[in-house]
Amino acid sequence: MQSFGFNQFGPPSVFKEIVQAPPVLSPIRVLVDVIGFGLNPYDAALRRGEQQANRPLPFPIVPGTDVVGTINSIGSDVTDYLPGDLVIAHPNIGGYASQVPVSHNKIGRLPSAFPIEQAVGLPSVGITAYNILFNALSIRPAQSLAIEGAAGGVGSLLLQLAKAAGLSVTAVAASKHANLLDQLGANQFIPSEKFSTANVKFDIVINAINGGNDQERGVAHVKASGQYLSLNPIAEALKQAHPQITMTAFQPKREYRDRPALGYLTKLMQQKELVVPIAQQFDFNLTSVIVAQSLLEQRHSAGKLIVLKNK
Ligand SMILES: NC(=O)c1ccc[n+]([C@@H]2O[C@H](COP(=O)([O-])OP(=O)(O)OC[C@H]3O[C@@H](n4cnc5c(N)ncnc54)[C@H](OP(=O)(O)O)[C@@H]3O)[C@@H](O)[C@H]2O)c1
Repeated sequence: MQSFGFNQFGPPSVFKEIVQAPPVLSPIRVLVDVIGFGLNPYDAALRRGEQQANRPLPFPIVPGTDVVGTINSIGSDVTDYLPGDLVIAHPNIGGYASQVPVSHNKIGRLPSAFPIEQAVGLPSVGITAYNILFNALSIRPAQSLAIEGAAGGVGSLLLQLAKAAGLSVTAVAASKHANLLDQLGANQFIPSEKFSTANVKFDIVINAINGGNDQERGVAHVKASGQYLSLNPIAEALKQAHPQITMTAFQPKREYRDRPALGYLTKLMQQKELVVPIAQQFDFNLTSVIVAQSLLEQRHSAGKLIVLKNK
């Protein structure tokens, strides 16, 4: 099978095309023939070697946690999927490839008319947004929520899921994203550079900025006894300075299950209540992966970077 990975840490140019033997399928996994995969900031952190302390991986490392494809074959204990099924998948790793094995608990079936490019960008950001709202935070309809980085992969999904759950959502992002965020249903838009001086407080503030910088700015806009959640680590000193605010540095947990999240997200997409903004779509080749990985390091256009095979 063909895959895109690296044998050393470094810049995007460390990516190489790697030909590997087809994986041996464990009983609870399915082998997916990949139609397309999505890229995430986490993949770039893997490439830079920043995840080795948390998650040491042997070379070659093939990133990729967002995939759409058809099932090629199923493990001996899999009874809920069949070869030929079109699926959306959230593998632990290895999605930048022509085939990837995935647990049957981390996939969802897609109807044949489903917009593939939208589905390719959905798994990681959608599951993260779902778990933040429905597992990590405590939310009630009509609460006020501000999202910093609202035009990003996670932020744009958070905005739409929070609106569907009845919250009043203020989007904070670069001015160029104002129209997109209006279309996605934001109740209010505040340009990033004006957020520090905006005289307004929220029940909940989420920092979904790539890298999670400027955390004091967001915390200053949380009501007394409100909640602050960041997708990146929160400094201990910031927590100690605001003991009345519930602060969460979001991390996925074992008890957060992918199957209900994928079911909820794909149903909302079928009902046209959820879209995945696409920043750029690339062809399935090594050059695309290198260019897309370079864009991950920059402030790219709003939405997801995806790679799709030509039909
Ligand atoms: N803990 C977890 O489980 C988990 C899961 C998924 C993601 N994450 C983390 O969540 C963050 C957001 O992920 P994402 O996929 O949504 O990211 P993204 O779409 O690449 O970026 C989100 C927003 O961050 C701003 N931004 C982008 N690059 C920046 C830079 N170099 N400096 C400052 N701001 C920048 C942009 O906002 P403007 O254009 O409006 O400035 C962008 O819309 C990342 O740090 C990611 O690693 C964590």
